[in-house]
Amino acid sequence: MSGVFESEPSWPDVPRKTETEGLASFEVIDAKTIYDSPTFFNPAMGLNRDFSLIFMVLYAKKFSKKLRMLDPLAGIGIRAIRAGLEITDYLSEVVINDYSELTCQVSNYNIHKNGLTDLITIYQREARALMLDLSENNKKYHYVDIDPFGPPTPFIDDVWATLSLSGLVSITATDTTALCGVYPKACYRKYGGIPLNNHHTHETGARILISAIARSAARHEFGLEVLFTLTADHYFKIFIHAKKRRGYATDTVMDIGYSYTCPECFEIRYDAGSRPDSMECCGIISDVAGPLWCGNLFSKEWTKNARNLLFENSEDIQDHNIKLQNSKRVEKLITEGIEGWDLKGYYTSDTISKKLRLGQPSFAKVAERLEEQGYRFVRTWFTKNSFRSDAPGTLVVKIFKDLVGEDKS
Ligand SMILES: C[S@@+](CC[C@H](N)C(=O)[O-])C[C@H]1O[C@@H](n2cnc3c(N)ncnc32)[C@H](O)[C@@H]1O
Ligand SMILES: [Zn+2]
Repeated sequence: MSGVFESEPSWPDVPRKTETEGLASFEVIDAKTIYDSPTFFNPAMGLNRDFSLIFMVLYAKKFSKKLRMLDPLAGIGIRAIRAGLEITDYLSEVVINDYSELTCQVSNYNIHKNGLTDLITIYQREARALMLDLSENNKKYHYVDIDPFGPPTPFIDDVWATLSLSGLVSITATDTTALCGVYPKACYRKYGGIPLNNHHTHETGARILISAIARSAARHEFGLEVLFTLTADHYFKIFIHAKKRRGYATDTVMDIGYSYTCPECFEIRYDAGSRPDSMECCGIISDVAGPLWCGNLFSKEWTKNARNLLFENSEDIQDHNIKLQNSKRVEKLITEGIEGWDLKGYYTSDTISKKLRLGQPSFAKVAERLEEQGYRFVRTWFTKNSFRSDAPGTLVVKIFKDLVGEDKS
């Protein structure tokens, strides 16, 4: 196949500096800011790359496979280089690609520098053309990572051709202004869903992105399970396990519908069926969003396995060398998945307090009251001052009122 980048590993005629991330040490072009560099490397995306390595190991262990990894929008290839150094035993082959020649020169240099030339092949191609060509040559991958700058939508439809019949896919979207409702028309154009600019805007944005992924998968007869939804900094990153089976694809799209939010008590109803006339809680519907994913955002099993892999089970910990950028943050994010995997209620302290024109009670007290009455309370890191619960909105609002009243008396 054409397009393999095989030049000598020489550094291009540009200033450079050394960076490190995980176990990798590599050279990048020395520019004032990351956006001034003609090649793309964003150190803030270290967390994003951490999660790729984590889910690759989980997948490889669960299915007892050494993985073939494809990163068609690889930038200077740091995700692949880290994979080669930190999870070596779980990989059989890695393909990276970028259409920029300078970027390929830099990745080539760094792959040699890190001794990974036997594992990693570099292509210099248009990403979609590469994915279709690989498929035409019967090359299938267990893990495909789509990490463009901006919306991933132009690339999603071509992932399925090159994914193995059962595979792991991760898709990053950095255009959060569209997905979070600042530009609703842009969101509708790109993702086919109307977003919201309210207290659960990030939840809605993630669900609209998953719906776009699920619809694309289904067009190619893949169904999916959402394993993990990462909402961090300025991006969303979704991990899914996709399997090619027509019936499964049909079941998957049946989980796409709308969300309806009550303006009085902030209860959210997800409904993949017909539009309800009113909310049962207070009788009003204000915010309608979608089409969006009505299923779960996390898998309990996979997030539990992630905790074992990283923090609990000493045998699993010895099985890899993943060097997390910020392990406390990773642990918090994973805990949300384990404890809140199926929770649909999403409440934000500021919004409730603003509505009630009252102060904000402490989360510890809110959690205690909810748990006393048999409901769950799980902190979410999607937005500030927010939590997930299975409690009815009217009860959450009452607890806020009671607690703030008690604080005053
Ligand atoms: C956000 S960067 C990738 C960052 C990388 N995944 C990482 O973890 O550091 C996106 C890269 O995709 C490349 N790119 C954008 N559109 C492309 C296309 N259609 N085909 C191939 N490469 C493309 C750009 O040159 C850029 O290096
Ligand atoms: Zn209500």
